Amino acid sequence: MTTTTGPTAVTGSVGTAHTRVEGLDKVTGAARYAGEIPFTDLAHGWLVLSTVARGRIRSVETEPVLAMPGVLSVLHHGNAPRVDADYQGMLGRPDPIVGVFQHDRVPFVGWPVALVVAETSEQAREAAEALVVHYDQEPHDIEFSAGRPGTYTPDTDGMLVEKGDLEAELAASTHVVDAEYTTPEEHHSPMEPHAATARWDSGRLDVVDSNQGSTWIADELAKLFSLDPASVRVRSEHVGGAFGSKGLRVHQVCAVMAATVLDRPVRVVLTRRQMFSLVGYRSPTAQRVRLGAEPDGRLRAFDHQGLSLSSTVHEFVEASAGFGRPMYAADAHHSVNRVVRLDVPTPTWMRAPGEAPGSFALESALDELAEKCGMDPIALRARNEPEVGPVSGLPFSSRNLTACFDEGARRFGWADRDPRPRTRREGRWLIGTGTAAATFPVLVGPATAAVTAQADGAFTVRITAADVGTGARTALTLIAADALEVAPDRVKVHIADSDFGPAMIAGGSMGTRSWGWAVTAAARELREKLVPGGDIPAEGITARSDTSALLGTLSQKERHSYGAQFAEVAVDVTTGEVRVRRMLGIFAAGRIVNPLTARGQLVGGMTWGLSMALHEEAVRDRASGAPVGPDLAGYHVAAHADVPHIEADWVDDPDPEDPVGIKGIGEIGIVGAAAAIANAVWHATGVRHRNLPIRPDRVI
Ligand code: MOS
Repeated sequence: MTTTTGPTAVTGSVGTAHTRVEGLDKVTGAARYAGEIPFTDLAHGWLVLSTVARGRIRSVETEPVLAMPGVLSVLHHGNAPRVDADYQGMLGRPDPIVGVFQHDRVPFVGWPVALVVAETSEQAREAAEALVVHYDQEPHDIEFSAGRPGTYTPDTDGMLVEKGDLEAELAASTHVVDAEYTTPEEHHSPMEPHAATARWDSGRLDVVDSNQGSTWIADELAKLFSLDPASVRVRSEHVGGAFGSKGLRVHQVCAVMAATVLDRPVRVVLTRRQMFSLVGYRSPTAQRVRLGAEPDGRLRAFDHQGLSLSSTVHEFVEASAGFGRPMYAADAHHSVNRVVRLDVPTPTWMRAPGEAPGSFALESALDELAEKCGMDPIALRARNEPEVGPVSGLPFSSRNLTACFDEGARRFGWADRDPRPRTRREGRWLIGTGTAAATFPVLVGPATAAVTAQADGAFTVRITAADVGTGARTALTLIAADALEVAPDRVKVHIADSDFGPAMIAGGSMGTRSWGWAVTAAARELREKLVPGGDIPAEGITARSDTSALLGTLSQKERHSYGAQFAEVAVDVTTGEVRVRRMLGIFAAGRIVNPLTARGQLVGGMTWGLSMALHEEAVRDRASGAPVGPDLAGYHVAAHADVPHIEADWVDDPDPEDPVGIKGIGEIGIVGAAAAIANAVWHATGVRHRNLPIRPDRVI
């Protein structure tokens, strides 16, 4: 027995830089990822994907493969356990791809048609590559373009806004921009491929996974396999990147199926190439923006139309046209998201879904409007600052966009900029600077947490959070330390085990805010329970929280994070090479819990914006419907040499209604970054680039 608290209360951990609590484990290799955790009697599954873009599976020649060394089973639509993929999950109905091996239809190249299970990963792979599958092929359609038939406005919330008389306001405007922008198919491709091991353990299904929310995955697996939720446990200790791609995917389902059939642990790891078909991606977009303004830049007309694609089996919308709704006042405010269904895999949430491509189009269009009005682009944005949400009419919880631009302009040296394009030259390089605004919604989800005061004076936190590489575990340590008024080294945070109870996922930039709320509530509850100087029994004293009810007390507000992005580029118009020389992002994104990892998040997002602006583009072969070069050699991402000094910082912007003041920083770093670069390329060269990426062949 020991006493609970020391004589002095310690606070101030939140806001102070702290290295990752699991950092040493990660850099020394002690941290094990889902595909590395050892299991006795482990078997290995290897997926076989369809090679046709549309049709039916006529037959699967399993016999020769079953005779190969080590092969234990070949699961396919003819023999796999039945599942029920017609359920409602946390984020709606699942993509039917998770109902794997349930029928003979093939809706795209890369659809899973079989799982070969063998004693070793190498045996499974060899057999999977030898498996012959016969198809009845049908013609496919993968053609994505703005003018094509078959586009429609989905019958779901947030797709269409029509406020005011758009055509009348456009007609009455002195300056009009009407431009089309495109962004290509892009992939998350997190460094750690998706991997899961499933086994039955004393009547419970035990899954070791790499995901963005272990209760979420446990809940979906329970629904899919018609199991009692209490009999499913999912853990995801370390995650090597996710970005929206690590939800319920085919590999977890296949591992559970095979573990059930074989009654032994089975691991399924996706290859990098398989990830390009199986884990979602960002849809290409074709966007049209029309802006009409008075001579002084005041917007009369705002119109943003976004088109994205989805598969034939599931509707997912990359809602690019929503970006401007909280941003700029206009007399007429229209925006619509449309979609077209093609013979391709279903896209999914990918970092800043909607806002990333939407900000490229709109923030480019604003730069074009500034040019037409003869105004500074920052002054144009300031002229259109709204009093309340331009579409919602709701007051802002806080809005520090102007503060971001003021601070950014000062630090970037914007005042010295000659606004005329193609006026700076250094040898073969044309130099330009550009800016763009960023925003991302601030949301929160319910979570449960338990905080235990231990007899040895330490505190243990348990919450089904996910640390997808962001530093969430460390942020929660700091939050718990402050709520308990102890030093962070007295707090141990355990995460990513569905047995800890339901909690929000690491998604929508709301993980840390949602979990921090629950951890703070449980810690406060615990302090109430602790008698100063009182004894702690051997099992400790535990307090629990559930924020489901608390969140209902939040006021109705327009609640967003904001940011101002700046970029300087050098363009060689002979080779078409664009070099980003420096980037600066200033954000108003709530109270920053851990400046060290927060800066990493924001700089990472901005780096991705650079990659989006200049490099990333997934291409599909029209004839076969298959992805071309689906790996990190064929899919070009920014390398170290492409990335200059990037600076991210923030203005003071605590959320008044969050117990810690958090808003969320997961996604906003990428928003607006590509537009700032495209605007800088215009400033350097005098040429607008409305199609990403800005490849050398498009520049010359
Ligand atoms: Mo993020 S795209 O909400 O995982």
